[in-house]
Formats: sequence, structure tokens, C-alpha cells
Amino acid sequence: MHLTALAFDAYGTLFDVHSVATTAEALFPGQGVALSRLWRTKQLEYTWQRSLMRRHADFSRVTRDALGHACEALRLSLSPSASDALLAAYRTLDVFPDALGALTALRGKVRFAILSNGAPDMLDAVVANSPLRDVFDAVLSVEDVGVFKPDPRVYQLAVDRLGMPKARIGFVSSNGWDAAGAKAFGFTVYWINRSGAPVERLGVAPDMTLATLAELPALIGS
Ligand code: LAC
Repeated sequence: MHLTALAFDAYGTLFDVHSVATTAEALFPGQGVALSRLWRTKQLEYTWQRSLMRRHADFSRVTRDALGHACEALRLSLSPSASDALLAAYRTLDVFPDALGALTALRGKVRFAILSNGAPDMLDAVVANSPLRDVFDAVLSVEDVGVFKPDPRVYQLAVDRLGMPKARIGFVSSNGWDAAGAKAFGFTVYWINRSGAPVERLGVAPDMTLATLAELPALIGS
């Protein structure tokens, strides 16, 4: 199938959420990696739990709440200034080293979108502060549908906003559960499995599994 657009997940796929570990380590020596991991785990859990409870709050709130819980669980005392520093780090995340090259190689072949749980202000900031600032045709936030991934309404947002059928859209994510959600919706899915994780047992499998984004351009039609 000839694809005319690629929709990318943001956090974990283009932007390295664990780059916050540097700030976390400076604030809490010896605990930076543990805090970064638990913060991300709680953040994702809260998105799923809020969606199931039908008590949506935007990703800024979820991210702040997850940080508070993670710090308490690790017995770390989170001052307001430390909280501000860690949340600010989320707006200046590192871009994965394979992202810019892959997008540059694909430029002109397909349209590019971000489709993310992130709140619009978070996404605008992290994109604007990165080398990817001029790359995307659309930056789409779940806030427009008020529910988190992997609810199918989120993936439908890309269809509606890009104005093309789902069969023409490729979805790119390093989050296995997000790849499964996008495949269940009907996208052609490229799972960027940087860590060599096992495929999620959710009844659907990605169309392609890649080790890095650098493998993507060769797979997208010229
Ligand atoms: C996102 C989450 C899944 O960017 O990381 O949507």
C-alpha cells in the first residue's frame, strides 16, 4: 500500500523521555535513572487509568501527578523548585539521534505528523526546542478528543486532520502498546523496538519491527 503520510508518536519515539534522568540525577544523586523510569511508568499508567475511569486530565497534569507519586514511592522529597526543574526538562527532551536523519531522508515523500498524548503546549515546546522544529506538517494532541492512547478516537484524529484514509497513513511508535493500538485501529504500523523488547500480547502485531528510525526511509515508497 502506498503511504502518503507518517504519524509519529512523540515521547519515547522521537524524544527521549529518559533524558530527564540528567536533571533527576543532579537533584537526587544516585536516584536519577530510577526516578526517570518510575516517573514514566506512572505517567503511562495514569493515562490508561484516567481513560478507563473517564476522568481525563491533560498530559501536563498527569505528568506532574506521576512525578509526585514516583518521588514519594522512592522516598525523595520533591521541593517546588525541583518539581519545576524536572517538568521544565520535559520541554527540552533530547531528540533520539536517529530521528532527524530519518525524517530528512523521507522529506518530500510523505507528509509528517506527530500524534501524541502530550498537551499542545508541551508538544509545541518540545518540538520548538529541538532540531525537529520545522519538520512536521501537523502536531496533533489527544486533547482534541479528551482521551488517551490507545483509544481508537485518538488514531481517528490523524485520519480526520490529515484528510486521508487510514490505509494511507503509516504510524511509527517505539511504545509497543501504542503500536498495538494503532494496528488495531487499522494503520500500517512501524514499531521502533530500540530495546529489543518482546512484542506485546494484545492480539495484533506491528507490520514491521525496526531497530531504529534509520531503517524507516528504505521501507517507505519513493
Ligand atoms: C505519546 C506517548 C505515548 O507521545 O509517549 O503519545
